[in-house]
Amino acid sequence: MNRLSDFMLPDARSTFAGDVDALFNFINVVSLILLIGITIAIIYFAYKYRRKSEDETTPLITHNSKLEITWSVIPLILVIIVFGWGYNGYLNLTTAPDDAYEIRVVGKSWLWEFHYDTGFVSVNELHVPANQPVKLILSSDDVIHSLFIPEFRVKMDALPNRYTSLWFEATEPGEMTIYCTEYCGSAHSNMLADLYVHSQEDFQTWLETADAVDETLSPAELGQQLVQRQGCLACHSLDGSTLQGPSFEGIFGRDRELQDGSVVTIDENYLRQSIIEPNTQVAAGFPAIMPSYAGSLDDRQIDAIIEYLKTLD
Ligand code: CUA
Repeated sequence: MNRLSDFMLPDARSTFAGDVDALFNFINVVSLILLIGITIAIIYFAYKYRRKSEDETTPLITHNSKLEITWSVIPLILVIIVFGWGYNGYLNLTTAPDDAYEIRVVGKSWLWEFHYDTGFVSVNELHVPANQPVKLILSSDDVIHSLFIPEFRVKMDALPNRYTSLWFEATEPGEMTIYCTEYCGSAHSNMLADLYVHSQEDFQTWLETADAVDETLSPAELGQQLVQRQGCLACHSLDGSTLQGPSFEGIFGRDRELQDGSVVTIDENYLRQSIIEPNTQVAAGFPAIMPSYAGSLDDRQIDAIIEYLKTLD
């Protein structure tokens, strides 16, 4: 955009980022001018009207109509400009064009799911076309999350039991990061997603082939991709360190103590159960917070994840 926003803000990459930045800069510049002007006036008057002798008395001044009208009308005009400009931008941000491409977004502790019109679901990875309006319809499976794309200057809460939406039009292909900006629990800061803006052609190709990528992989390779793509690694480490959930390192075949004190051996059935109904057999010492993957993963994908977990010694 211009130099001021380059200095203070992330790159502007949506159609309304420029307008948002311009208003932001306007408010900043006006505030700066007022700050400097008022500060100079205070120092000047403090000096000019300082007490010069012991017997000096303060002259009685009741009011100055010209001055009072000036300092009322100028701020009023400034506030009206900021309101009108901001309201116009707000309407623009909240009114998605009719031809916008719609993507359903579900926030879960702690991952983002993106549902496309083909039925394909990506986790922590949003793909959108450039130069075309895209509307995200958000909801949450549990607590309040908030989806924020700094480069687009858009942010919207994802609420349980209610839909919210936002829209944007990306101006150029590129890669960005999506943040959760509502404090939603211990892995809130890990609740990130990658945003890929494709050219319209590349987006169509991606959409058509997104499902097919899996076919050529061995089960363990597919499983490795899935634990990344499905956001498992936000809570389960691969190196033995403890995050929100037990580590995946050497998980298969191990004995595990559950919350009720019983001990199970981690086999295919335990893993399957833990993916589909995670909170029925919770490991001792960990909170029952994992979202269910029933419906998001099919049998082949669950098998693949189990095969991958077997390879982690
Ligand atoms: Cu989800 Cu913070």
